[in-house]
Formats: sequence, C-alpha cells, structure tokens
Amino acid sequence: MSVKILANDGIADDAVARLEASGFIVDTNKREQDQLADAINNEDFKVVLVRSATKIRKELIDACPGLEMIGRGGVGMDNVDVEYAREKGITVFNTPASSSQAVAELVMACMFSLARGVYDADRAMPKTGATEFKALKKKYGKGIELRGKKLAVIGFGRIGQFAARYALGAGMEVLAVDAFIKEPVEIDLQIPGVDAIVEVSPVSMEEALTQADFITLHVPAQADGSAVIGEAEFNKMKDGVRLVNLARGGVVNEDALLAALESGKVAAAALDVFENEPTPREDLLTHPNILSTPHIGAATVEAQARIGGEIAENIEAKYA
Ligand code: 3PG
Repeated sequence: MSVKILANDGIADDAVARLEASGFIVDTNKREQDQLADAINNEDFKVVLVRSATKIRKELIDACPGLEMIGRGGVGMDNVDVEYAREKGITVFNTPASSSQAVAELVMACMFSLARGVYDADRAMPKTGATEFKALKKKYGKGIELRGKKLAVIGFGRIGQFAARYALGAGMEVLAVDAFIKEPVEIDLQIPGVDAIVEVSPVSMEEALTQADFITLHVPAQADGSAVIGEAEFNKMKDGVRLVNLARGGVVNEDALLAALESGKVAAAALDVFENEPTPREDLLTHPNILSTPHIGAATVEAQARIGGEIAENIEAKYA
C-alpha cells in the first residue's frame, strides 16, 4: 500500500511530483495544529513534513502511534521534540544543507538596507517624496558603507560561513564567534576563475561585541529559551551598531533591543524572526529603525527546491 505523506507547511512542486512518481501519496492541504493528530490518525499519514509553522510536540507524538517519520524542511528543529520522537522509534530529519545561500543573501540585503536606511526611505517616499524631497534627502543622506566595516558573525556554522563569504567579498572584516569552532576556518569566496580563500580566525564573544559595526546571528534557539543577545551584550557594543537577526525569535531579547534602539546603541536592526510568531509585537513592526520581514530567510524558489530534493531523498531512502 502507498505510504501517505502530509506536507503540512507546503513543499516544492518538484518534490511532490518526484515523490508521487516514486509511489507515495502526498497531501499538501494545511491542517491546523489542533486538527493535526486527528488528521494523521484518521487519514493514516505515516510521514509528516513541516517547516517552522507546525509544531510536533510530545503530546502529538503520543497521540499518533502510527507515525513513522517526521521531516523538517529547513534547519531549525525547535518546533519538533526530536529526542522524544526518536525514543519512540520515529525517524526524524531536517535539511541542513539547502538554505544557507538564501539566508546569506538576505543577510546582505538587510545589511545594505540598514547601512543606507533604504527600507525606511522606501516607506517615506510614497507618502511625502513628491512634497518633501529635499527633507527626505537630508534625512536619509547619512548612510554608511559596508566596505572596511567589521561584521560579527555569531554562530559560525554553515549559514554563518555562507554569510561571511559574501561579507568578505563586500570588503568587510569578519569576526567569527562560535561555541564549537576554535580553529581558523578557510572561507572560499567562490569567485569564478579566481583562487580566493580567506582564513577567518574565531574570536571571543567579548571581542566581537565590542568591535563590531554590524552583527548577524546564526545560532539556533537556545535549549533553555534564553537570549544570546540581551541587555548585558548590548551594553558592550559600539554605539551605532547595526544588528541582523534571521536566526530565531528570542535569540535577541526584544525588550533589550528596543531599549538599545531608543538609546542609540543600536542604529538599526533587521528582524526576520520574532519571539511571538506568527503574531509579532506591533512596536517592533512599526519601529522606524527596524526593517522587518516575515520569516523568509530560507524562502527562495531555489532553496525550497533543494529542500524538496533533500526531503524526497530521505523519504525514498527510508521506504526503499
Ligand atoms: C529554518 O530554520 O530552516 C528557517 O527558519 C526557515 O523556516 P521556514 O521553513 O519556516 O521558512
């Protein structure tokens, strides 16, 4: 009998076609969280695929004894009780290799935008661009350049290293911080036809925070829910630092960030992730010095296609 797969947060069309061609039945209709257990049991889904929206907690795992596989199309596993599922004999996987490029490109988009206030100028132009052009030119005409600036990359795993590649290419100095990486890391800039490898030596959090002009985070949600950047860390930063969080809501304390923006410690911040997804707080979304996006770091056509391919491989391998 065909194995049934519920892709509850969507999956690339090519992956659906590939899995169907391999004999699986794939359902991409979203089930709300409170209807998920019933759907899995009543419709006999053996595989559930999620992104960050759907939560697979202990209670749901207990309620669905027929579940055989949980796939996370993406990197962060904070929405899945991974260890518990594995103890119950369920295969759990994510797709860690597929989205680094997409996230790294958004890091650069955010940094360029924060550097020049592009995001806020674009909010102002439709309203007063035709009547107050000169005033807007004055207001947004104090941008800075990335070249020559120091970028702290907090979390120097796959995504952090992809972000570093771009930043180095843009002429930034990279201050890498990582709990596990203690040796220099060779970053290949991947410039076609050029052998361009830059060695990045990890530095302490203290050094990174005190030196950086820009900070980008690439760490998972902390197991105890604590922030990596809170009031104490903001206090160490240079005045006017610009901060990017495309990692997870909560790794930057939102109250402390607002206070740091208020005091001028942080000049501007870009947030793609929020403590309270999918209902982030209004004072972040409407803040004039915050660029916000709705958790789209991994959401490029190319990344989702690669993720779909990784998902299909995992499922095919299990049911081969
Ligand atoms: C991840 O952890 O892979 C990213 O946060 C992407 O999340 P998403 O799949 O919900 O876009």
